[in-house]
Amino acid sequence: MLFVPVFEDDDRLEDVPELDAATSGDIGRARDSGEFRGKLYEYFIARVTTGAYQAARVALVGAGRRSDADPERLRRIAAACGYTARLRSISSAALLVRNGCDPIKTAEFGADGMSYAEFDSGTYKTGDREAGRFPDRVVIVAPGADEAALNDAVFRGRTIGECANRARGLANEPANVLTPREFASRVAAMSVPVGLSVEILDEDRIRELGMGLLLGVSQGSAEPARLVVIRHDPPDAPETPVLGLIGKGVTFDTGGVSIKPADGMERMKDDMAGGAAVAAALRALAILKAPRRVIGIIPMVENAVGGRATRPGDVLTSASGTTVEVINTDAEGRLILADALWYAQELGATHLVDVATLTGACMVALGRSASGLFGSPDSWAETVRAAGHRGGDRLWTLPLHEEYRDMLRSEIADIINSAGRWAGASTAAMFLREFVKGRPWAHLDIAGTAWAEDRRAYQSKGATGVAVRTLTELGLTPTL
Ligand code: BES
Ligand code: MN
Ligand code: ZN
Repeated sequence: MLFVPVFEDDDRLEDVPELDAATSGDIGRARDSGEFRGKLYEYFIARVTTGAYQAARVALVGAGRRSDADPERLRRIAAACGYTARLRSISSAALLVRNGCDPIKTAEFGADGMSYAEFDSGTYKTGDREAGRFPDRVVIVAPGADEAALNDAVFRGRTIGECANRARGLANEPANVLTPREFASRVAAMSVPVGLSVEILDEDRIRELGMGLLLGVSQGSAEPARLVVIRHDPPDAPETPVLGLIGKGVTFDTGGVSIKPADGMERMKDDMAGGAAVAAALRALAILKAPRRVIGIIPMVENAVGGRATRPGDVLTSASGTTVEVINTDAEGRLILADALWYAQELGATHLVDVATLTGACMVALGRSASGLFGSPDSWAETVRAAGHRGGDRLWTLPLHEEYRDMLRSEIADIINSAGRWAGASTAAMFLREFVKGRPWAHLDIAGTAWAEDRRAYQSKGATGVAVRTLTELGLTPTL
């Protein structure tokens, strides 16, 4: 089946002139009658009746307005093609890169998007899978494009799509399976074979390093904490810059003693999606041979309720020495990230990006359509935003006003961990900033984007793999 994206406006398919004839005029009739208008993700399938095409059938896929065709949109169109192929158990699929789209970038998004549809979320289903069969063969067709550049682009898209699927797989895993220890060993298993080095710090080591915030979150759980360090150290890379990627790895967030309401709490198994994105991006960077040093740090804990759990009002001491009064045990992500940010800097990271399902407030502000982006200096936040845009993750900049810092004042310690409702995403980011010492830092709040509540043409329900593309693009950016 040949997939042909068709734009909504005045797309007359000039670059595939024989297509109408090859379908005995079916396509022209569907266009003229309004049966197929090119509305986003709409599709129309016609049989190829002549020998003009290798394909037996053609699927026109609505691509919406041409002016809206940004990287995210192109990737989603390809994913919608992939899901269509899969639901129909098509064994061989081809995706046409249309004239007028940058052939190399579009081929990358095509391979990425098609790969995205390969992901199977039914891990624990014992009966038949309903989701069809992903094609054995997928071809990206870009007439006239440079072949070597095209092959590179397809390899890159395929790699990123596969890595995003790994992040989705990890985030979908239930918390009884994916404990901190299991998370750590799965990260090692996906990293070591591609040449990354992995170090897993156990609780004794974490205690030696003085990470009182990380241990304070973990202490209510029967499952011991882990801190995973992943290194991409190409032999010919310069000493600096060293990109430090830090991902929240809460394998389940009950809220702790400040317990969450029961409704929807099952979703909190994905509170390690930021950590999964970091591991997946490092894998992609290793496979794509990024010519710079990158360190990934993932603090892994379960935020549980129990007799040993941290209480509201407890004071914890971070590895950096800053003391924190825990007002709300449900504001746990910033605690573990604070110690991880400190450690990234100890290990020599010069440029920092953390990724976390950090606040419901970010979801209130932006919904599910964009991740919140914070950072300083502005130029670094802009570098990260641009990488997100190129990769096809939408990031929206939110403020870090100095007033938010005042809201973190504690009577008995250096700072509190929760400043309440107002500007909740910004005060959380401000808390993290306290642990960054004089180097570029950005924070992505993916609470609204890590999980898809409904199935869409381009996305199954569940983990989305958000931020993998942003981090991979950033790692591949020639100058930071
Ligand atoms: N993991 C949650 C944030 C979250 C909420 C992610 C909903 C995805 C969906 C985080 O640990 C949390 O509980 N944050 C609190 C912070 C508050 C206590 C200051 C929140 O957002 O309510
Ligand atoms: Mn929480
Ligand atoms: Zn959380």
